[in-house]
Amino acid sequence: MKKRENFGSKIGTILVAAGSAVGLGNIWRFPIETGQNGGAAYIFIYILCIIFLGYPVMMSEFIIGRHAHASTSAAFQKLSPGTQWKWVGRLGTLTGFVILGYYSVVSGWTLEYIYLTISNQFADKHTADFAPMFNDFVSNPWLSVMWTFVALAITYYIIVRGVTGGIEKFSKILMPVLFLLIILLVVLTINLPNADKGVDFLLNPDFSKINGKVVLSALGQAFYSLSLGMGALITYASYFNSTSRLRKTAINVCVIDTVVALMSGFIIFPAMFSIGHVLSPDEIGPSLIFITLPDVFKQSFSAVPILGYIFSLLFYILLFIAALTSMISLHEVATAYCVDERHIDRKRAALYVTLSCAILGVLSALSFGSLKDFTIFGRTFFDLFDFTASNIFLPLGGLLTTIYVGWFINQNVLHDQVRGIDRSKQMSVKIIRFLIRYFAPIAIIGIFLYQFGII
Ligand code: TRP
Repeated sequence: MKKRENFGSKIGTILVAAGSAVGLGNIWRFPIETGQNGGAAYIFIYILCIIFLGYPVMMSEFIIGRHAHASTSAAFQKLSPGTQWKWVGRLGTLTGFVILGYYSVVSGWTLEYIYLTISNQFADKHTADFAPMFNDFVSNPWLSVMWTFVALAITYYIIVRGVTGGIEKFSKILMPVLFLLIILLVVLTINLPNADKGVDFLLNPDFSKINGKVVLSALGQAFYSLSLGMGALITYASYFNSTSRLRKTAINVCVIDTVVALMSGFIIFPAMFSIGHVLSPDEIGPSLIFITLPDVFKQSFSAVPILGYIFSLLFYILLFIAALTSMISLHEVATAYCVDERHIDRKRAALYVTLSCAILGVLSALSFGSLKDFTIFGRTFFDLFDFTASNIFLPLGGLLTTIYVGWFINQNVLHDQVRGIDRSKQMSVKIIRFLIRYFAPIAIIGIFLYQFGII
């Protein structure tokens, strides 16, 4: 059998996993959630969720992946042959596939906005023009489908180059660029007039806004932001070599993901406050990023338009890089499934995944235009894919994964993998095991019930 490829370096390992975690969720969802749920109070709760839920669940995925040295569904099969646990891996693979379908559409939008910025099309626009501009674009079937394909083709180009030569190599280039861009953008916004009001808004804790609902939504956000629940990190961990330290890698990824999310807040809010824009409750996701922000950037830098141009360009490039590295990890789960379980060679596997995802991509892209009125359970394809994957499959996958690692896996495996070659303290193994066995499953059940409006 061919030897499984490994990530070549420690830093590569961290950047690849961080690339999966840092995505659209950090840049558009986190700032909004923070803005609407009590600023620093929300940030405080969110960080607790990362530590007590995100970190142990990430460790669970790392343990399975590195121990089995196989992609998600093959891993469960290898560790518990002849049982039904393989279905958890299969569910994860399917989930990744569905997420990739609609995620590639939004990634395509960021490409269109890079193009719009480069061709200077925001220059003569007024506040009222940005919404129709966005709506015209997303409802234009050719354009939105074309950009979806471009985003998928770029992902394919990287995946087909393999684990070390593609995924690791590109993450080692793209992630530092992402950090650099985000630092640059923070420096630019913090120097805007009235930016300090935006910073105050984020740092001023309003604990009166915190209730059970907010805590559960922070849990859900932490979960999504770290790419948990579908085996993306199981698959990546199958490429970790035996000397990489799981705990250290997980801590690094959690810190990077959280810092990027916070920094996005320090870009978006100071920019908004500098022109006196007040966040309205319906400004979520796409409307904030593609309607409000281009206008905010333009107005904030109205004194020096070229700065607004550069800012907008850097911001959409940042968004695309964040989305791309997440797409790579989603794509890899399905590709590795085809390679490990269907024994298809990597090149062909990648092509099959890209082509079949393109079909979901077309359905999702057209959900804003020609298929707008075509709904299933009252949802367009785009919403249906997003809802089933993020609100049902991810928490379900995460729940089953923690139950598996906490209760069913050979506990020596858990112990050895967590301790690693540096033989870390027994105490930390005990804490991690406790969180995986008890806290994580209960918290995830909470997220579930909340998402279905049961609590
Ligand atoms: N974490 C990604 C983000 O913040 C989104 C995501 C969720 C994801 N689950 C995933 C990415 C699984 C890759 C794999 O945008």
